[in-house]
Amino acid sequence: MPIEWKEQDGVFHLYNQRVSYLIQIVHGKYLAHLYWGKRVHTIQPNSILSFKGRAFSPMTESKDPSFSLDTLPQEYPAFGNGDFRSPAYQIKTNDGTTITGFNYDSHEIFQGKPQLKGLPAAYVEEDHEAETLVITMVDSKLGIGLHLYYTIYRELDVIARSASFEHLGSNEVEIHKCMSMSVDFHHSDWDWLHLHGTWARERYIERKPLIHGKQSISSARGASSHQHNPFFALLSENATEEYGETYGVSLVYSGNFQASIEVDSFETTRLSIGINPFHFSWLLKPGETFQTPEALMVYSADGLGGMSRTFHRLLRTRLCRGMYRDKTRPILFNNWEATRFDFTENKLKDLAVIAANLGIELFVLDDGWFGHRNNAKSSLGDWVADRKKLPQGLNGLAEYIQSKGMKFGLWVEPEMVSPDSDLYRKHPDWCLHVPGRGRTLSRNQLVLDLSREDVCNWLIDTFTKVFNSASISYVKWDMNRNMTEAASAKLPPERQKETAHRYMLGIYRVLETLMKRFPKILFESCSGGGGRFDPGMLYYMPQTWTSDDTDAVERVKIQYGTSMVYPAITMGAHVSDVPNHQVGRITPLQMRCHVAMAANLGFEMNLARLNKKEKMIIKREIGFYRQIMDLVCFGDLYRLLDPFKGTDSAIMYAASDQTRAVVFYYKTLAMPNPPFLRLKLRGLNSLAKYQINNDERLYLGDELMKIGLTIPLVKSDFFSKVYLIQQMVD
Ligand code: DGJ
Repeated sequence: MPIEWKEQDGVFHLYNQRVSYLIQIVHGKYLAHLYWGKRVHTIQPNSILSFKGRAFSPMTESKDPSFSLDTLPQEYPAFGNGDFRSPAYQIKTNDGTTITGFNYDSHEIFQGKPQLKGLPAAYVEEDHEAETLVITMVDSKLGIGLHLYYTIYRELDVIARSASFEHLGSNEVEIHKCMSMSVDFHHSDWDWLHLHGTWARERYIERKPLIHGKQSISSARGASSHQHNPFFALLSENATEEYGETYGVSLVYSGNFQASIEVDSFETTRLSIGINPFHFSWLLKPGETFQTPEALMVYSADGLGGMSRTFHRLLRTRLCRGMYRDKTRPILFNNWEATRFDFTENKLKDLAVIAANLGIELFVLDDGWFGHRNNAKSSLGDWVADRKKLPQGLNGLAEYIQSKGMKFGLWVEPEMVSPDSDLYRKHPDWCLHVPGRGRTLSRNQLVLDLSREDVCNWLIDTFTKVFNSASISYVKWDMNRNMTEAASAKLPPERQKETAHRYMLGIYRVLETLMKRFPKILFESCSGGGGRFDPGMLYYMPQTWTSDDTDAVERVKIQYGTSMVYPAITMGAHVSDVPNHQVGRITPLQMRCHVAMAANLGFEMNLARLNKKEKMIIKREIGFYRQIMDLVCFGDLYRLLDPFKGTDSAIMYAASDQTRAVVFYYKTLAMPNPPFLRLKLRGLNSLAKYQINNDERLYLGDELMKIGLTIPLVKSDFFSKVYLIQQMVD
């Protein structure tokens, strides 16, 4: 049983073979956090918590002067009646105060994992894969039940948490804060790591020791954002890529979020993640329930690498859905960087002929095919093919592409509207705005108000028509600005601060409906590259365009940072022209291919300009990618050398049965008279013999993992080499 209830001690023990999570009910009503970490077998719960009355720590229980909420490690703490640290939630009641008293009421333990209504979440395929504990706390004065959900997976070191407020009382309240999880660690000797960036420079890694007080990352942009990813990790100070305790927390949400860590004067570390409480509130009426998004909490005793591999397995197999979940993805060509808006049907057809000859499987038509969109200034909202560019419509082009043996894919940006569009002229109130105030443009566009049911329904109908209008196998769902004037014409004043979250519920409903209607379409999400690379989007669309930066050197870092949480099968990676559009750098075609083939390989260059030699290289690399794509998509990732720390970097993917692996090595700048570099591989069978790139010489797994694979000395910048390692059977 992965969840045990020890009634005499008031202790819940959630465990699998490697992880334990312990909660204790104290004084019959408070929920204390005892432990989260490596599996413990026997516990003496009463020896875990230590109590001592401290000056200025309020005495919450008059009969027990040593007890204070201010120093109690808790599961879902409140503010205002003893604990001065950051609360997990705050509710304004009808008397205008924010004092609540949620006490333990009951609990339930069952096999399986319930889904969250209207929200993306990790799932189980069979009930025996996980067990769930629901603890119900009740504020009897308010008549509100607080349900805390904990699911522990049997085979994955993951605990999924969320909370819901169920209003059974009689006066409406306002929820001002409701995090998805909160945990108090008993010490503060941690580093924290998170992913930050901006457009074209997403998910750079930052690791810092914790300081006393609060440290946090967040987004208030109406999207998870390029700037911060809804993820952070705590690492023991000596933890490395492969060793040491690491705790990763990721939020299954695509909107405004906050992740915060607070170290107090007694070295307790409180961490939480959830909807950003800034500019948020939710009116909860009697009879209604508010459900938070889900937080995924991973424990690893094997450093960051162990944490990432658990996230990868979880997201790939129990968060992503649909027929593409367990399939390698088609090698695609996207016309964006080749043509931008400047294309005709004939130009696309010429590109398609070359693409097909190179072995490309999917031809994606990007922005500019609808309305009169010859630049980024118009037509979002008018989703009808531009007959000047496409005289035979989308279907005519799709049929041509198919006649060349490829599938056809299409770019859309459904959530946006251009002021210069028929849609905006007809429905000027359909965008987020505040009446009587300016509507701030970004990329010349406004955001449709998806907190409105009618706008969402229109989107569903419109894109059902678009996706039925041709034989479409793939859709790139883009979103190219963040929210301003995040208010809705449909909501009353007291609900305006609900707009951003209602928007997320709206977009999730639209995506769920379209995904179900078009189960054969492979959806790729995009937000100016990786501005919404989060588990929420991956629940509906199993891959994301990683970044608009396709420069090979930059991409090595971006993909490395992204791999902290997200598996390669979720990352779109394309080979583009040089000089690179974002940084002007010229890198060899081979390196560009080697970087892109460490994820879902695609091409986004002007194929019409390729010479014979370049075509030969691309054909060769596509052929090689076909040999390794299963490893990239389904293998275990080991990060061998960190591109943020030097000019050499390397990663590898190993099959879980240890029979095959692929190693990617990249050198960005050459060094004069360099030392030899030996890459110590991982994930192989120590005693098995391996062949590398079909060379005759055999290597023992032990040798490759302990002594290492020697990288050749090469006098060149932008050098890359890929090693396919295959076990030989005697
Ligand atoms: C932003 C995307 O990231 C690009 O790949 C491209 O699709 C453009 N939008 C098109 O407007």
